Amino acid sequence: MTDTKTRNEPVYVVDELIAQDIDAYLEQHEHKTMLRFITCGSVDDGKSTLIGRLLYDSKMIFEDQLDALTSDSKKVGTQGQEIDFALLVDGLAAEREQGITIDVAYRFFNTEKRKFIVADCPGHEQYTRNMVTGASTADLAVILIDARKGVLVQTRRHSYLCHLIGIKNIVLAVNKMDLVDYSQEVFDKIVADYTGFANSIGIESFTAMPISGFKGDNITTLSANTPWYKGPTLVEHLETVEVISSVDADKPFRMPVQWVNRPNLDFRGFSGLIATGAVKPGDKIRVLPSGKTSTVSKVVTFDGDIEEAVAGESVTVCFEDEIDCSRGSVISVADNPPQTADQFESTIVWMADEALVPGRAYWLKLATQTVSVTVQEPKYTVNVNTMEHMAAKTLELNEIGVAEITTDKQVVFEPYADNRALGGFILVDKMTNATVAAGMINFSLRRSQNVHWQALDIGRKQHAALKNQTPAVLWFTGLSGSGKSTIANMVEKKLHRMNRHTFLLDGDNVRHGLNKDLGFTESDRIENIRRVGEVSKLMADAGLIVITAFISPFQADREMVRSMLPDGEFFEVFIDTPLKVAEARDVKGLYKKARSGELKNFTGIDSPYEAPRSPEIRIDTTKMSPEEAANLIVDTLLGDA
Ligand code: ADX
Repeated sequence: MTDTKTRNEPVYVVDELIAQDIDAYLEQHEHKTMLRFITCGSVDDGKSTLIGRLLYDSKMIFEDQLDALTSDSKKVGTQGQEIDFALLVDGLAAEREQGITIDVAYRFFNTEKRKFIVADCPGHEQYTRNMVTGASTADLAVILIDARKGVLVQTRRHSYLCHLIGIKNIVLAVNKMDLVDYSQEVFDKIVADYTGFANSIGIESFTAMPISGFKGDNITTLSANTPWYKGPTLVEHLETVEVISSVDADKPFRMPVQWVNRPNLDFRGFSGLIATGAVKPGDKIRVLPSGKTSTVSKVVTFDGDIEEAVAGESVTVCFEDEIDCSRGSVISVADNPPQTADQFESTIVWMADEALVPGRAYWLKLATQTVSVTVQEPKYTVNVNTMEHMAAKTLELNEIGVAEITTDKQVVFEPYADNRALGGFILVDKMTNATVAAGMINFSLRRSQNVHWQALDIGRKQHAALKNQTPAVLWFTGLSGSGKSTIANMVEKKLHRMNRHTFLLDGDNVRHGLNKDLGFTESDRIENIRRVGEVSKLMADAGLIVITAFISPFQADREMVRSMLPDGEFFEVFIDTPLKVAEARDVKGLYKKARSGELKNFTGIDSPYEAPRSPEIRIDTTKMSPEEAANLIVDTLLGDA
């Protein structure tokens, strides 16, 4: 070894092979499998010490990792043994305490047999979402227990989360055995306790071992201090346990399409990461959701055509036939395809400061598919400390709940328990683009599979043709008392005189009938707009020009209605009246009531109004009379503006 190292190169490598035969070393290294695992346990269970021990004993440490971990970088020599173990552990612990790694810290190490990535996650309850992030890609979880303390609430919480996320390999590492005199009795009691709990939440098996991260017992070699324990050691177990990707290779072939690769007219391939199974030329495949079938003609990688590709590899697949396939499609083996559905029961971990709004449309991203989704009120939330189910109206930060979800298009999926890639999803806020939740599909709801779309012969085109007009929705939005109803009424009269077929849906009126069960909470307003949106769409399908006058205070919900209609048929009409002006008019006396506290959740007072960002038509009622406004709207609609 020399002193002339570049960053990110190993400071110290034990393997003799590297000195003698670098090619053979690299070859061996390249074919090592990779195990991703997560360490869980509360702060005092000895997590940092254990990770330090693994890094230290594997003797393969990267320089910049060390720089970050040790304040005194001079101690870092070219020989791994010069790194002080205590210093390394202190570094890991300090980094955690300073909050540098409130997110998940990933650490890398190698042994002769395998490469490892450890996700080191913060232990506190408020970091549930971080633990979920770390666990979502892990093949194995090491649940650390302090031998003096036994199974704690935190042990149960983390075990439940690991199980929920589908980690099949659980190691129960009973740590600090040196502090209980390596007592077999203590160890056996903890294992018995944990077995009872594990069975109750559906963990079928786990591997328990007595260790001391601090002293190094049963980490790389069997310890003389625990003659009653026959192994394996922790590292042996980590080196030999079967990793998910090799299990995935035996499942039926599924590949979500990331992009269509068409460099020229002679080549058309579909690129993506194989989620499960294998694919080779000659295989019969099916593309979902269309269900069209073909045969694989070629499987291509950067190295050219290959004979077969398996789970975990990124490839481009070509077909013998020109069938429809695009980003978001899933290519599967023809005779055993995944399901498609648009309603599911799911388990959701909420990760945003703002609580879930049931009924609100979010983006759902599952594999390479992105669809609009609404989440119902949760059936229950799970208290991860006691495993109790609790009634809930929403999901707050770090809460886990079970809820039904409905997507606006068919989603190709498999239950999360069978396939993490096609069963796991995230939810994204449509306005802020922030990831707000992680979720898992438990199953699809049968009602969604038994309701089919009925094709009808007389459609919107025929209806519109008979009326000799183009259907449209004029969606008025604005504060209470802004003048929506007045102007909408004038617009309808003008159109009617021009022999147009119209219909006006007005907030106060619809709330007397169709929506009389709804109040003014956020979720009731969302449901109000959803129903009115659906009714407007039906009326537009019937060929009508629909005019609606609802406060519709939320941008997301107006966008949802927009997305239901063909491009160019939705006109957002912003009746822009300042709160001061609307309140001064107070036609119905409601502002007065709201100010006095007699009326709650009043828009503009104690309930928000999100003004349109780019409405098709904006009416400034302080500058325009209702008559002028109505003329402008009609002219814009008919294209005479
Ligand atoms: S929306 O917010 O759900 O779109 P919508 O337009 O249907 O509201 O109903 C608004 C009308 O209900 C107002 O014009 C007003 O007459 C009445 N109203 C009663 N309570 C409220 C309230 N808390 N906030 C707003 N409007 C209210």
